[in-house]
Amino acid sequence: MKLKDRVSIITGGNSGIGKATALLFAREGSKVVIAGRNASRGREVMGAIKNGRGEAMFVKTDVSKSPEVRNLVETVIKRFGRIDILFNNAALSPVGTVLDTSEKEWSDVIGTNLTGTFLCTRYVLPHMIERKKGVIINTGSINSLMAMKKEAAYDASKGGVLMLTRAVALDFAEFNIRANCICPGAIETPMLRDILNQAPDPEAAEADLARKHPLGRIGSPEDVANMALFLASDESSFVTGTAMPVDGGILGGWT
Ligand SMILES: NC(=O)c1ccc[n+]([C@@H]2O[C@H](COP(=O)([O-])OP(=O)(O)OC[C@H]3O[C@@H](n4cnc5c(N)ncnc54)[C@H](O)[C@@H]3O)[C@@H](O)[C@H]2O)c1
Repeated sequence: MKLKDRVSIITGGNSGIGKATALLFAREGSKVVIAGRNASRGREVMGAIKNGRGEAMFVKTDVSKSPEVRNLVETVIKRFGRIDILFNNAALSPVGTVLDTSEKEWSDVIGTNLTGTFLCTRYVLPHMIERKKGVIINTGSINSLMAMKKEAAYDASKGGVLMLTRAVALDFAEFNIRANCICPGAIETPMLRDILNQAPDPEAAEADLARKHPLGRIGSPEDVANMALFLASDESSFVTGTAMPVDGGILGGWT
């Protein structure tokens, strides 16, 4: 049990990568707090963890809203007394160039992906500083390191998430707080499915995307959850401020 008795908050823990991570962290002994907007999916994941004899709670949270994030952190501290791990994973992923992106879409994406990460980090940090211990994991993307066509707002938000990760790692290392950014390639989740479904031929788009990854497939949410577990555990105790690709080799070169 790599996370025995640790308390983890996972934003967007009710779907895709966040859900796989919530289930894995619980199996590894963590008490898991799922923070998300969709209560029925959140309760489903919480139920699955409890059925496996794990401990979990769901707190309905929109990470882009400061009062809701404050409520999340206060609720967790009241129930568990501490926060060991924060996984900032919730995000939106619209498609479009700068010209296709409305001001509302832009502020929604930056508000969730970047400001949401900032807010959760800002409310959790004082509790980690007090205990001189903590792990923050942010979900970036390969888009944190390279731009993709017609993903302007997402590219900007994920580039920002990586630099915010590095800033937090630098500023709070003296308190034994580590911050790292996972950079997934294409991963089989509802988010990816929505994007593929917008293609004229979703099946062909999926095959093309798989082929672009040198390993020849789309990743699974568990591929990313395994990296999150490594970064959350003491096995990565000398790792901070990094971008960790889980990308089937795509950042090494398109095939
Ligand atoms: N799937 C991929 O191919 C892929 C690739 C690279 C990076 N990512 C990143 O992985 C992370 C997880 O995405 P996923 O693929 O599992 O998608 P997903 O859509 O299954 O999960 C995202 C979750 O975030 C939640 N969310 C969105 N806005 C929110 C808000 N304001 N407050 C709270 N929750 C909110 C959604 O409801 C959902 O539960 C995201 O950061 C995404 O950008 C995904």
